[in-house]
Amino acid sequence: MSDLTFEIKSHPNPRSAEERAAVMANPGFGKVFTDHMVVARYSAGRGWHDAQIKAREAIPLDPAAAVLHYAQEIFEGLKAYRTADGGAALFRPDANARRFRHSAERLAIPPFPEDAFVQAMHELVKLDRAWIPDTADGSLYLRPFMIATEAFLGVKPASEYLFLTIASAVGSYFKDPNSTVTVWVSEHYTRAAPGGTGAAKCGGNYAASLAAQSEATAQGCEQVVFLDAVERRYIEELGGMNVFFVFEDGTLVTPPLSDSILHGITRDSVLTLAKEAGLTVKEEPYAIDAWRADVREGRLTEAFACGTAAVITPIGTVKGREESFTIGNGKAGPVAQKLRNLLVDIQRGNTNDAHGWFQKVF
Ligand code: PLP
Ligand code: COI
Repeated sequence: MSDLTFEIKSHPNPRSAEERAAVMANPGFGKVFTDHMVVARYSAGRGWHDAQIKAREAIPLDPAAAVLHYAQEIFEGLKAYRTADGGAALFRPDANARRFRHSAERLAIPPFPEDAFVQAMHELVKLDRAWIPDTADGSLYLRPFMIATEAFLGVKPASEYLFLTIASAVGSYFKDPNSTVTVWVSEHYTRAAPGGTGAAKCGGNYAASLAAQSEATAQGCEQVVFLDAVERRYIEELGGMNVFFVFEDGTLVTPPLSDSILHGITRDSVLTLAKEAGLTVKEEPYAIDAWRADVREGRLTEAFACGTAAVITPIGTVKGREESFTIGNGKAGPVAQKLRNLLVDIQRGNTNDAHGWFQKVF
């Protein structure tokens, strides 16, 4: 147990119920921010200290701060959900705390204590409770992150850091939550390579994905499918989500974990729920040419993306430079829908959670 405790300083002048209602009416994703934020400081001499939850405000940064030059930064993403009794719950925040530690180790950042991470999420949700949407697709998205703040231009791990968490009232990540997405297969750009930072949730991975994301957008696609950096054949994941394939014989396939894909908490949860639902689950490499052939020959019936932001989003069409193909009739399939319901029912406390994933906040 860490001895870090958060001093709570409520916002002296939070937004009114009317202002909140106006911005929360149609929040989209990641645009509507709450009144509070979590902050803690690290210095080489003192370790983690000065932990507070306070009014959200801009943070002062020296122009030489290491994060601005060498991108020593990591983040997380998790959601708080409104429950039927008017309370709120978090989904597997301990798993986010653990992944945050792994990301910190990869980026040579001093790890943030996992128990303090989970405590901070609970406290922030309690303080910003008025910002948790009560719509079917709505939730409070929490974004913990750490940045290197030391003012120094030499290339080395910094000696000073900030831990922060901001919160955003969100609706669904994609415009139409009941529709499928179209994905763009990136043949030129890769996202991560063996030995690189692909398994760490660091901003640099997302910066590296943006040129491909621009290509995707120009092609009318919502997300990029990244292939492995060595053979440029095996599907790794999407720009911000893991990916699953459903076969007509009831088998579910997802690429195996490695150091070049993000170890998604939704991915892990889907694997467990699918096994319990009687599907045969395989974590094995799957090539882009096999995807094309399996769709053409009717063996593959569905594919879906999954992640905290995306929940479970079916993939309708796959586009590439040479050819495009549509999965089934391009509509959401029954397996994705069933898994989504199983997952969402646990997240929102509509069903008994046998896994210890659901954490009531209040
Ligand atoms: N892969 C990438 C690149 C992501 O950004 C995310 C989102 O966090 C995921 C996968 C899914 O991870 P999780 O299910 O833990 O949100
Ligand atoms: C998340 O799902 O939390 C992510 O970080 C993905 C991003 C597309 C918002």
